[in-house]
Order: sequence, then structure tokens, then C-alpha cells
Amino acid sequence: MNISGLSTPALIIDSKKFRSNANRMAELLSGSSLKLRPHYKSHKCASIARWQIECGAIGMTCAKLSEAEDLCDAGIEDILIANQIVDPAKIRRAADLARNCRLTVCIDSAENIAAFSKAASLCGSTVHCLVEYEIGMKRCGVESKEDVLSLAKQIIKSENLKFDGIQAYAGHISHVEDLNKRKEMTAENYRKLKDLLDYLKENGIDVRTVSGGSTGTAEIKAAEGLYTELQAGSYLFMDAVYRELSLPFENSLFLLTTVVSAKEDLIVVDAGVKTCGVDQGMPAIYNENAGEIVASEEHFQIHGYRGKAKVGDKLLLIPGHCCSTVNLHDKIYVLDGERVTDRILITARKIGR
Ligand SMILES: Cc1ncc(COP(=O)(O)O)c(C=O)c1O
Repeated sequence: MNISGLSTPALIIDSKKFRSNANRMAELLSGSSLKLRPHYKSHKCASIARWQIECGAIGMTCAKLSEAEDLCDAGIEDILIANQIVDPAKIRRAADLARNCRLTVCIDSAENIAAFSKAASLCGSTVHCLVEYEIGMKRCGVESKEDVLSLAKQIIKSENLKFDGIQAYAGHISHVEDLNKRKEMTAENYRKLKDLLDYLKENGIDVRTVSGGSTGTAEIKAAEGLYTELQAGSYLFMDAVYRELSLPFENSLFLLTTVVSAKEDLIVVDAGVKTCGVDQGMPAIYNENAGEIVASEEHFQIHGYRGKAKVGDKLLLIPGHCCSTVNLHDKIYVLDGERVTDRILITARKIGR
């Protein structure tokens, strides 16, 4: 089939750009001690996760239990849930999942350690733990090195748990456009983390894993040497927001739309917030300039469009945020030039944790 045969809005990837992003990441990390543990949330496709492992990723990162279950079903053996699981029923599910894969969870409270130890003991599994350190994003994690030490010691003493190390995700740095500012903030992050790691070492704690990082900090982290794992996700697809950072990756994910109305200086396409994630920013038009884009459920109103478009024409958008866009679709069409060569199912698109 040709691209013109696709019913819109349709999510598509340019296979050459997609593969070149994967190669670029491999090049960035080669020679550094940082290993890739890509984030599943960006594509949620079991087949892409399997391919990333074949290409050398040490395992997958994911955001929630349902994604971890999907990865395990797909045969992925080493899975990190980069979040806290606190609901008792989910802790039981996670402990059960740990019988079939090497499962790591993030921990930031003593109660959660006790609950995981009990659940894992009951089902005879081992759950690996990273203590989450709050490094400036103001999301989850404990804020003092004394608290990290105390949780690490508790995990080490707990039955059926294994202390692997630290998660320190500095998400507040990822989208800072100015590279120098990003470097400055990363250096600050480095000092804080180094201080924590030295403190844990002085207290006899063996930290094997330090996990974190994103597409926006991959280049800097590869040169840095403290983190052992990089959790980048968006690098495969990129999006309109990451495009502004001049990273060494190119946009490979697009939303194919149809122009449904064309007036002087305003065109409207058949995609809106129900098919394109705008939580981090508006989409951009591929290879064209435009002014303000206004979103509604099923439309984007594109003001100041400077290309030539008439009703019925197809228009390629670069999604504002790739991860939340993928979550709105069931499949991604793979394109080689104009030719549709494959269709990838978004297997973990399920709502819920
Ligand atoms: C815990 C965690 N790790 C890593 C990432 C990096 O993702 P990306 O490379 O898509 O910016 C995210 C993004 O939200 C995240 O929440």
C-alpha cells in the first residue's frame, strides 16, 4: 500500500529515520559506561522492545505495572518499573510477575519495602529495588542521603528483596532548550549524586545501579560517568518539543492528517487532542511554517499556514509529545519512502496501571 491509501488520522514512522535514531544512540553510548535501558512508555510496542533488546539494550524501563506485564508477556527478561507501586493488589501482582522476569521497582518509603517483602515472600519471588532519590524534579523520591541510606539498609535486611542501587531521574532538565543551561543543571545534578554515592560507599552500601536520564540529557550523560543506565525513550521518535533542542536525533514519528477546511490563512485538519498528545506542546507541520495552532478534540486549526493546501490534501504533523500521542493509537504504520511496509501494534496502550 502507498501512504495515500491510509485512512487519517494515522500514526506513521519513517523507518530510515527511526533506525538512524537507534544507531545514533548506540554511537553516543559506545565507549561510555552507560548502558541503554530504553523507556517503554514512548512506543508501548512489544515488537519494538524486542528489537531494542536485540540491538543491545540491557533491559526495558517502563512507567507502570500494566506495561511491565506486557513486556514480560513479550519475553523481555529484565524490566524496571521506574515508579512506586503502592496499591496492595498491585504489589501482589508485581511480586507475582517477578517470578517470570527480573523485575526492579522504585522505592521511597519504609512501608512500601515491608509490603513488597511480604508479597514477594508469599509468592516466592525476588523483587529488585532501587531507592528513588529526588534530584530536583520534585516528583517522587526521598530528599536526603540519610533517608536513602536508611531505606537501602532496610531493603538489604528484607527477605525476598534485593538492593540494586539508586534511581535519580532529573526530568526537569530534559527539555531545557539552551544546551549550556542543560549542561549547568546536569553538573549540579552530578555533584548532588556524587555526594550521595560517596556517602553510601562510606557507609558500606554497594551501589551497582544508578538509573535515570532522558533523550534530552543522553549526550551529556554519556560523557559523565556516574549513571550506569540511561532511561531515554523519545530518542527513537522525537517530537515537536524535543526538536527545538537540536539533539542528534531526527523526527521519525508523524501524524498523517487530511485537510478538512481551507480558508485564506487558516487550514483545519482532521486530528486534535484525541489523536495527538499536546501535554508538552503543540504539534508542528512537517517541512512547512505556520503561525498559531489551536487544538480541539478532533481538529487542529492552523493559522498563518504558509504552504499551499486545499481540502482533501494530506498534511504531516510532528506530534507535540510522542509518548502521549502513541498512547492514543492502536497501531503505527511503517513507511519506507511512500510505501507502507508494516503495521506495528501498540500492545501496552491499555488504560490503567
Ligand atoms: C522515569 C523516567 N525516565 C526516563 C524518562 C525519559 O524519557 P524521554 O527520553 O522520553 O524524555 C522519563 C520521561 O518522562 C521518565 O519519567
